[in-house]
Amino acid sequence: MNNSIQSKQIPVFKPLIEKEEIAAALESLELGWLGMGSYVKQFEEHVASVCEFDAASDRHVVAVSTGHAAIHLSLLMMGVGPGDEVITPSFNNTADFQAIRACGANPVFVDIREDTLCIDTSKVEDLITEKTKCIIAMDYDIFICDHEKLAEIARWHKIPVLHDAAHSYGSRYKGKPVGNQHAYTMFSFDPVKSITCIDGGAIVVQGEKNVLRLQAKRLIGMTQPAAQMYTNSRAWTYDIEELGFRYHMANPHAAIGISQIKKIDEIRASRQQACQRYHEELSGLDWLDAPRGDFDSVNPFLYYIRVLNGKRKELRDYMRSKGVDTGIHWQAGHSFTYFKDCRRGPLDVTNKIVEEIVSLPLHSKMNKEDLNYIINTIRCFQ
Ligand SMILES: Cc1ncc(COP(=O)(O)O)c(C=O)c1O
Repeated sequence: MNNSIQSKQIPVFKPLIEKEEIAAALESLELGWLGMGSYVKQFEEHVASVCEFDAASDRHVVAVSTGHAAIHLSLLMMGVGPGDEVITPSFNNTADFQAIRACGANPVFVDIREDTLCIDTSKVEDLITEKTKCIIAMDYDIFICDHEKLAEIARWHKIPVLHDAAHSYGSRYKGKPVGNQHAYTMFSFDPVKSITCIDGGAIVVQGEKNVLRLQAKRLIGMTQPAAQMYTNSRAWTYDIEELGFRYHMANPHAAIGISQIKKIDEIRASRQQACQRYHEELSGLDWLDAPRGDFDSVNPFLYYIRVLNGKRKELRDYMRSKGVDTGIHWQAGHSFTYFKDCRRGPLDVTNKIVEEIVSLPLHSKMNKEDLNYIINTIRCFQ
């Protein structure tokens, strides 16, 4: 290894922490109210403004500690409980499978479409039984699910959809911002997402009654009014009416999230440009697939390639030796010991994709030199 190789280290993810985030964190720390408070309220308002809800839809945002917590609470709100089933792509984040199990229910694994790696809506209905309580629709990376078809299935079978939009906050589906498509939508603002709170999540829910239930559920069931906590103070007496968790968001996290959302246009544009470049520069290579998403309408979380010549490990080792880290999103859910006995449909596409997929580095305001270096490195792989 020569010196230039050793000095290059490009991670898959790199949070965009600029002076605004640092100032926001400092300000929130100096406030001295570290728990749920005024910044969380403002964060919810910022999340909602990107979603452009119309008043008639009665949609609201409830911020929580992680995307995983958002899924868990959404499933509980939908009434998912012991012995129930939730249909999810096997090609999904473990957070979804574990949230289903945390409700006492079981995931049922459905396949994905080869062109978008999102849920294959033509394979969902075969898996529905009287135990099915929810369908999880997860937007993957630069692609958005066929939400129209999913809404139709949901209406027909009277089964709600949980929109896992962990990858698609700030994206649009048929011109409308993500967050407006289903009964429940969840977002993740974890350390590697395009918009981060360090760790954070949010639920989009309809109706004031559901908002109040969620606000108690995220605060270990305490019915003390969020309105009071939003003024950086708390009630000392309250009731507990149902199961709750310590899933609230804290002020410093919200403060950082707000400073990120303020730059969402810049962040999204820079990530779109990097994906476009990857696609243009790599799609000529016959041993890989470099997908073309609808880059103009998404806020890309990842850019993935598929290695078609069976040399994924060799490619990843070679990239690492050149100082470029790569990722795998994901292993299949049905391949994990804890989920291996779950019911499933045919998973031919999933089984193929999990052997081929590689995530390339994608950063907000990505350094052009890094991008060129990654592209040239891949082009030189034999
Ligand atoms: C599709 C998907 N859903 C849910 C989650 C969980 O979000 P969090 O990491 O905020 O708990 C992730 C995290 O990466 C994800 O990719």
